[in-house]
Amino acid sequence: MRLALVGYGKMGRELEKAAVTRGHQVVAIIDPDVPGMAKEMSAATVKNAEVALEFTQKEAVLNNLEQALKLNLKLVIGTTGWYDDLEKAKELVQQYQGGVIYAPNFSVGVNLFFEVVQRAAEAFRNFSQYDVYLLEKHHRNKVDSPSGTAKKIADIILHQINRKKKIVTESLNRRINEDEMHLLCIRAGAIYGEHSVFFDSEGDEIELTHRARSRVGLAIGALVAAEWIRDKKGFYAFSDVFKSLISGGQNGK
Ligand SMILES: NC(=O)c1ccc[n+]([C@@H]2O[C@H](COP(=O)([O-])OP(=O)(O)OC[C@H]3O[C@@H](n4cnc5c(N)ncnc54)[C@H](OP(=O)(O)O)[C@@H]3O)[C@@H](O)[C@H]2O)c1
Repeated sequence: MRLALVGYGKMGRELEKAAVTRGHQVVAIIDPDVPGMAKEMSAATVKNAEVALEFTQKEAVLNNLEQALKLNLKLVIGTTGWYDDLEKAKELVQQYQGGVIYAPNFSVGVNLFFEVVQRAAEAFRNFSQYDVYLLEKHHRNKVDSPSGTAKKIADIILHQINRKKKIVTESLNRRINEDEMHLLCIRAGAIYGEHSVFFDSEGDEIELTHRARSRVGLAIGALVAAEWIRDKKGFYAFSDVFKSLISGGQNGK
């Protein structure tokens, strides 16, 4: 498959390496601040790419999305923090009859973790002696907080455990309310990404953790998404598509 990389930062570079290992060709790289790279998406700069992978910054997403749609390019959006514009993005995809897939985290392992958390939360639902809280850690250069992945994990839990109604991310100078779930974020060093869910009671604690060892899992998942969206139309969340990977409908390797 012929790919365009939009954003040539940490993820763009990882995608370039992973694309080769999956037999794909990177035909275009767009990043305004990298010397020698194309500055924006146009027919000339995306060349004959079939799918573009967008890993930039939240302010750039809608414009890149519209460019991709105008150029008839399928799009994988990995950038996080732009989700207030989801409805607008959906409308654009509908208007142009394009094909787009997005995720706060494309890692196959993290998406399996979402499934594990959902099943765990379901199991703990009726055991009110267990409180639940979240801890998320990322490298010091990450610009958004909590991570999109942590928000997604929180949503999964709030959906399953009725006694929790909202997340609180700030430090509290009061007792936490029964219906609040604490989500703590740490930004330090070079941590690739770590997400933990704790179920805590007087007698014991159950801890579930996903710990990324590198960005390679993210890149491979984004390429799985690119392979999937290549011949599709519509606006998709990777988590929905992932359900079919779990049930064996697609190749998730
Ligand atoms: N969904 C996932 O699985 C996943 C995984 C990892 C990261 N992410 C997200 O993906 C995004 C990028 O992460 P990263 O670690 O690669 O960040 P990064 O190292 O900062 O790279 C982003 C690159 O995109 C460039 N850029 C900014 N605006 C652009 C535009 N309009 N067109 C093209 N390039 C543009 C940036 O240039 P400047 O440095 O000059 O701004 C930078 O080179 C973040 O939102 C991050 O949270 C998602």
